[in-house]
Amino acid sequence: RFGFADAVSRRIKSFSGHVLTMGSEAPADIRVDLSDLKSVEKKMQVLGGRHPEIRGLIHLYPLNVYFDGAVTDTHEINASVKSFFLMVRHLLPLLDRPDTLISALAFESVVFAYANSPGNIHPVFAALGGMLKTMNKELKNTRAKIVDFSIADPLKHVESIVDQYMAELMASDLHVETGYRDDKRYRLSLVEQAVEQGRSTVKKGDTILVTGGARGITFEILKALAAEYQVRPIILGRSDINALDAEFRKKDADEQYIFKSLKARMKGSRPVEIKRAVQKNLALREVMANLAELSAQGIDIQYHCIDVLDTEAVLRVVDSVSTIDGVLHAAGVEESRFIGKKSLDSFNRVFDTKITGVRNLLHALDGKSYRFFFTFSSVTAKFGNEGQVDYTGANDMLAKILLREKTLHPEKTYKVFDWTAWDGAGMATKETVKKVLQQRGLEFLPLARGVRFFMDELSDSGSTEAVFTGRDTALDPDGLFQAPGLPADEHRRPFIDRVVEKNEIQTQYSRILDLKRDLFLLDHSRLDVPIFLGATGIEAMAEAASTLAPEGSRLVSMREFSIPYGIKLLKGRPREILISAGQQDGDPGLFACSISSQFKNREGMAMGDPKRHYQGLFEFSGQKPEQIRVRIPEFTPVQYNGNIQDLLYHPARLFMDGLFRTVEDILSFEPQVLISRVRNSSEKQFFAGDAAPDFITDVAIVDAMFQTGGMLEVMTTHEIVLPARIRQMSFYGQLQKNREYICITRKTDNGQKANIYQLDLVDPDGMLLIRIEDFEMVKVDRLAPENRITGKISSPALKKAS
Ligand SMILES: NC(=O)c1ccc[n+]([C@@H]2O[C@H](COP(=O)([O-])OP(=O)(O)OC[C@H]3O[C@@H](n4cnc5c(N)ncnc54)[C@H](OP(=O)(O)O)[C@@H]3O)[C@@H](O)[C@H]2O)c1
Repeated sequence: RFGFADAVSRRIKSFSGHVLTMGSEAPADIRVDLSDLKSVEKKMQVLGGRHPEIRGLIHLYPLNVYFDGAVTDTHEINASVKSFFLMVRHLLPLLDRPDTLISALAFESVVFAYANSPGNIHPVFAALGGMLKTMNKELKNTRAKIVDFSIADPLKHVESIVDQYMAELMASDLHVETGYRDDKRYRLSLVEQAVEQGRSTVKKGDTILVTGGARGITFEILKALAAEYQVRPIILGRSDINALDAEFRKKDADEQYIFKSLKARMKGSRPVEIKRAVQKNLALREVMANLAELSAQGIDIQYHCIDVLDTEAVLRVVDSVSTIDGVLHAAGVEESRFIGKKSLDSFNRVFDTKITGVRNLLHALDGKSYRFFFTFSSVTAKFGNEGQVDYTGANDMLAKILLREKTLHPEKTYKVFDWTAWDGAGMATKETVKKVLQQRGLEFLPLARGVRFFMDELSDSGSTEAVFTGRDTALDPDGLFQAPGLPADEHRRPFIDRVVEKNEIQTQYSRILDLKRDLFLLDHSRLDVPIFLGATGIEAMAEAASTLAPEGSRLVSMREFSIPYGIKLLKGRPREILISAGQQDGDPGLFACSISSQFKNREGMAMGDPKRHYQGLFEFSGQKPEQIRVRIPEFTPVQYNGNIQDLLYHPARLFMDGLFRTVEDILSFEPQVLISRVRNSSEKQFFAGDAAPDFITDVAIVDAMFQTGGMLEVMTTHEIVLPARIRQMSFYGQLQKNREYICITRKTDNGQKANIYQLDLVDPDGMLLIRIEDFEMVKVDRLAPENRITGKISSPALKKAS
């Protein structure tokens, strides 16, 4: 209605593209009322089949409500948010392909909600941002983008806004959330900040309305609030404690007891129903025990068995109390499932608990004189998270609802706590959830620290949103950690120190390798001599190249890599290396890199020519690499007595230790093919004081891949081989700490002096992450007879071969 769809259509058609428009009025090609979710679902179920050519979805409907100046209501949430989910879910087979796009256009609400003087924040846009960040992760081949504009009189500038929007969609940059104001481009970044030490927002004896306070992390926080401020909580939760069976109130009624008893009572029920009933009773027990514990602290508490989605019930409770000093909306539901598998019902449960919940609370409190309003959100709302399209959408919207409230009521304190996963209590401690989050690289927050962070934050009324996170860069494709001045930025290139020379196309850095700082070298020593790794050489050169690479690009491949001379720290003495990168063939993404050293006399004078140790061609690109699924071969297990790691990681065989004990198991072994399980899970310091450096490549895993060639030889030919050359190494995706990967190592040539291998690193689903083609390892030694292990291992394939 405001010309945006028309302008976008014209641009797409001018590139010979085709456009199908969808809306409730003529001249939309597909006529549907987006707020009527049943109709949307019906239309979408057939749309993909009728239009298999669809390669993108641009969602502009929310602009209508924004420019109508209407407030957000259920109608808009259905039309703007839930219909968007349904569209993506039903078009998933078409949208989850290379060269596809999902996008939305926003105003003042995604990036600019954080501006010093924000404009008209429309939280629905942020819901789309939160969802798109998850879509970006789940649909690995698809470009997901929301572009936020901040401009006076936007309706007078529709054409120029759409020009900028289309340019952003077609640029190589992959950030999901970007913004434009005064022709300048903006992105979000996290700023590390200590809490302000002001007066606490919470005062002694305050009455606080708390949703979700009877369990989980909120209960832990309530205990601290009760102890420090003697607050009077009014807790809302769905659990009906009166419904707890008398038999299960007994002290010794544990999970096993309840299970046995319910199993006997629920004859004919499915196991999952019994399990659900057990969980429900356990939750009721927990609520009862928690309420008793709070009462024992001598404070006044009220518990109301109320669903925060029930507008009238919330209103009744609020109206029944003379004063409410503040609110903590912490009710939340976690039901992680990928978009393709998620039902609208599940989406509603997760989304509405947060959003209908906060709207009901704000509605009930309208005109009342409360002083503060807190809410709990999650770091995943900032980064996106597979399986949580509803949760990230809701949480990001929740934050913008409070940021908007702050603009309307500057005298009140609003605060959004974006928590990382807590250890010891709450929804992230469910075994399945915990495992997945850890594998994705999320750092857990110990319970006591979380509570302390909350309490400390109370004295900081200056900021409305606070993110409590580890340095979880693996979760952060939008580079929120890369703000200038953030410590993360300094750490991002840990092999780069002093600039020797630098211009736009060429650079050289100097780095002193020193055992006091470079602790990793101690875990990579052969015959007591620390050796710089092939993998650290690749990382160091990639870091140098990255300082010249275009913004927003990432390392996609390395070619013609070789190690003319290894780098050893003889007698443990510090040693200077020079890391160079230079643009190649005028290509802004291609760099010839090397590591060299220069012998210097006692006076520091350079003597002779520099010695070249490592070299390679590094390619950076703004395009998402193509996703490739590799078939994981059938395993031919290896038989051995004892721990295979102890067998292989032996000073005479593979000299890596500690940080580099990364090959956890041999899954399959044949004379020419080794399949191993690798994982970077060491908590040891890589550099002094830094256990999790921010690398471009995952050094420990790349080294693990290299090790597998050595292992194959130790297990078959008794030869000791070292990395020498790589024709091509391609990087398809980001690796994560603590995550299991599978390395498939194939030996394709057995030469006089060297062997050749092909390696694929894949995730357990077979998605390719790193491919190494023609990896040459030179033979440097043979195992002494007493160190050979071929007699200790056996495999059906070996028997067949012999
Ligand atoms: N735990 C974490 O690591 C973590 C991390 C990031 C963010 N968060 C956020 O922190 C909050 C608390 O998380 P938690 O881990 O403590 O969760 P939890 O242990 O699963 O507890 C959730 C609480 O919310 C209540 N609740 C859910 N739906 C409700 C509804 N419709 N009406 C009223 N109450 C409702 C539940 O009570 P009933 O079942 O009795 O209704 C329960 O007390 C959530 O908003 C979550 O998103 C938690």
